[in-house]
Formats: sequence, C-alpha cells, structure tokens
Amino acid sequence: MAALSIYLAALVVGMTAAYFKFLYRRRREGEPPLVPGNFLLGSGAEFAQHAVKFLHKCKKTYGDIFTIRLLNQHVTIVMDPHSYENMTKERRFDFDPIQRQVNHNVFNFELVDARKMLSEAGKKVNGRHLHGGMKNFSDNLRNAFDKVTNLDVNGNVVKTVGEQWGHDGLRTLTSKTIFAALFYTIFGHGESQGEFEPQMFHKSFDVFHKYFNYMWLGLPAKLFPKATKALQVLCQQPSSEDMLMREGVSEYIKFATGFMKDNAQSEQDIIGHNLVFLHVNYNTFRLAFWCLYKLLENKKAHAALAEEIREFVEDKRALTTGQKVEILMEEFDKLPLLDSFIKETLRITSGVFMVRYIAEDTDFTLESGGTYRCRQGDRVATYPPAIHMDPEIYEDPEEFKYDRFVDAKFYKNGQELKHPIIAFGSLCPGKKYSLLQTKWFLMNLINSFEMELLDGESTIPDVNFYGHEILPPVHDVQVRYRLLENSHELDLVSKRSC
Ligand SMILES: *[C@@H]1O[C@H](CO)[C@@H](O)[C@H](O)[C@H]1NC(C)=O
Ligand SMILES: *[C@@H]1O[C@H](CO)[C@@H](O)[C@H](O)[C@H]1NC(C)=O
Repeated sequence: MAALSIYLAALVVGMTAAYFKFLYRRRREGEPPLVPGNFLLGSGAEFAQHAVKFLHKCKKTYGDIFTIRLLNQHVTIVMDPHSYENMTKERRFDFDPIQRQVNHNVFNFELVDARKMLSEAGKKVNGRHLHGGMKNFSDNLRNAFDKVTNLDVNGNVVKTVGEQWGHDGLRTLTSKTIFAALFYTIFGHGESQGEFEPQMFHKSFDVFHKYFNYMWLGLPAKLFPKATKALQVLCQQPSSEDMLMREGVSEYIKFATGFMKDNAQSEQDIIGHNLVFLHVNYNTFRLAFWCLYKLLENKKAHAALAEEIREFVEDKRALTTGQKVEILMEEFDKLPLLDSFIKETLRITSGVFMVRYIAEDTDFTLESGGTYRCRQGDRVATYPPAIHMDPEIYEDPEEFKYDRFVDAKFYKNGQELKHPIIAFGSLCPGKKYSLLQTKWFLMNLINSFEMELLDGESTIPDVNFYGHEILPPVHDVQVRYRLLENSHELDLVSKRSC
C-alpha cells in the first residue's frame, strides 16, 4: 500500500511538473493574446471539430493575432490576410524544422541538405522543364483516357461511346486517369510493374493519409498498424538504379536520386523521398476530383465551361492543318472561366495549414501596424481556409460561384488582397505545374467526355482532414460517362507547326 501511494504521489508530482514545463503558459509582455483551452488538449478538440469556425470565433474575441495550444504545441495564428507576405519573408519563421518533422515522423527518413535539394529540385518542374513535363503528362493522360474508355470496370473490352456508357466511382475514375498520369510522369514505365503501379498506390495512400495528422504531430506509428501496413506497400519500389532505367522517368526523380546518392543517403531514404514527392502530387489528384464533382453538380458551370472550351478549340482548329488541334500551354492557361472555376474549387476544398517554426524570439509587425513578440520554439501559422471562408472577403462564402474570380478583386478592411487564394502556401515549387495539369485534364475531359452523376449521388469535403492541402470527400459518388462523338483530339505543343 505504502509503495503504491508513494508511486501515485510521485506520478502526480511528475505530471504536474510536466504540465508546467510543457503545457502551462503565462503570457509575457508584448506577446499576442493567449486563448484559454482545455487542461490537456488545449484547443485541440475545438480545432479538430471545425477549425474554421473555431478560428473565426477567436478572431472576434482576440483580433488579428493570438496564440492557441494544440496538445503540446503553441501556435500563434495570424488571421490578417494582408500580413501573409510579412510572414513568409520573416527569416526567423523557419520551414525547415517543419519539413524535417514530416519526413521523420511520417515518412521515416531524413533529407541531407534539404534546402539545396528543394531549391534545385524545384527547377526540374519549372522553367524549360515545365514544357517537357507537361508534354509527358499529356501523353500519359491520353493513355489513361484510352484505357477507361475501352475497358469496363471488369476489364472487358467495351468502347464507351454511343449507347454504351461506362460506369465507375468518380474518385476511382479520377484516380485511373489523372493520378495514373501523374504517377507515370514522375516514375516512368517499367517492364514488370508488380505492386509498383498507380492503383495500388492510390489505395494505400488512402489508408495511410487517414493517420497523417496524428503521425506528423509525433504520435508513434506503432499506434496505427493499418498505416504501417500501407506504408510497407508504398515502400515496395524499384531500386534507385532500376528507377533511373525506367522509360520516361522524370527530371525531378533523376536529379533527386542523384543528389541523395551524392550525399550517401540510403536506398530507404530515397524511397521515403519518392513517397513525399508522390504525396504532394496527390493533391493535384484531389483537386481534380473536386473540380469534376463541382462541374457535375453545377449544370450552369458545366455549360459555361464547355462553351468557353468549345469556342477556344474551334479557334485553334482553324489554325491547325493536321488531325489534332494544336494547343500551346500559354494559351489554355489563360482561359478565364476555367481559371476562375479552379480557384473557386480550391477556395472551397483546401485545408492547408501553413506552419513555420519560430527559431528565435521575434517581434513580428502586422501589416495593420501592431507589433507582437513571437516566442522561440513555438510555431506560427496562417490558416488559409479561414481566410477563404471570410464573408468580408467573399460574399456568401459557403456558396460555390464558378465565375467568382473572373476579373475580380477582393478586399479586407478596405485594402485589396494580394493573395486571395493561398492553397499552395508560399514555398510550393510545383504550384504552376499542378495548376496547368489540372487545367489540361479538365479541358480534355470536357472536350471529349459526356459525364453525369447518377441520381441522388452527392458528397462533401471531409473536415476531419483539415491540415491536408486538399480535403478528400467523405465518400465517393457514382457516375456514368461516354465519349462525345465528333470531338477533336487536343495536342499539347510548344510551338504551332504551321
Ligand atoms: C519527359 O520524358 C522524357 C523521356 O520520355 C525524359 O527524358 C524527360 O526528362 C521528361 N521530362 C521531364 C521534365 O521530366
Ligand atoms: C511588415 O509590414 C509592416 C508594414 O507594412 C512593415 O513596417 C514591417 O517592416 C514588415 N515586417 C517584415 C518582417 O517584413
């Protein structure tokens, strides 16, 4: 008995000490207001339940900047959208520890010289490589479209045209098309594919991603056996040597693999890094899903977009001599409705949490004036979904308005916003590439497919995934589709031939 009570007393003392060391905090002079929270979780529960509503409520009480606690991490939230640039420019707000945390906790590896790697690798998806990458993507996408319009879900040969519709889940179909194209554009094609093929990765990612938030916060992977199992499948990849031999493997993978090998990184590290890259590309697939869904849900948007694309294709066709309609990247990037439609979809479905580590105590000045002391070791963050749902910036923010961004400006406190949509954060080198891929995918699909939701099918973004760049749907929806007769195949070219 005595032993037990001493043990319990020690436990209480230990926990109390831990509480004061890790969780308890007193606001210091000059720091942002501290939002009171639950003894253990801080504001974790409210944040998890509905982050946007919670932050809007805090803003009403505490203003443009305040500090919350999520479990053991204090996060200073900047709500003023005009201060976004200030925040990204502040050098003491460091992304490096955050990416290390994700790589280490979630993907089990460490990147040597991450800054150099990311800035160099970023060049492989931009500039002159952007054209080459898009060309590869468009070839892979055409193959994927061919497959889903020539085979039914059971693998029987059926051309989905005329009276013959194809049936599938919209998410599955999006995965078989754009995700497959992304996968092959990154990793190329090999002889025997085995487990290393897009549908296997799609399935395993879906399981793995459910646990992503817990894992990056640092809960041990052992707690999530399903995630561990999925990760094992995702790690069954060709050796780096075989990967580099695959036909059509991307500049990015060629560079990254070489760089890591030069730094004497292990095969396991290279595999982990390949996964991270596919994981960020997965957001393009999630975005494409929502674009298609919003299109099928909004008949008016669908008709308007189809009209914009039809006119565009007709104009280009008049300039083309061959069978296929030649289109330049710079041209389809500028279609106003398509552009607005994608931005509006991002506004509604992005869940990204832009977090930085505070490397030293920092006096941070908001664009609006006030200066606040941000504490070393905390995190500082802006939460774009809360900005995207601000009724002062966006009229009827809950409503999907496909043409909202056509020639539009947005204001907060009477001042124009420089970045109304912050779905990619400030550091993503693949932003342009990803948007171009989404546009090309949608344009081709609208140009050559007829597609409908089956009766009564509908879905919504899953708010349990707030923190992921793009939210997945709560469940898939069933669609039917067929090829449009008389459509003209589109060919992505870097210069028109005539
Ligand atoms: C496109 O594919 C070719 C091989 O087909 C490859 O050599 C090239 O590096 C790829 N381009 C990019 C930007 O990945
Ligand atoms: C933030 O913005 C204010 C006002 O525009 C400016 O005075 C201040 O120097 C900026 N801070 C940083 C870190 O850029």
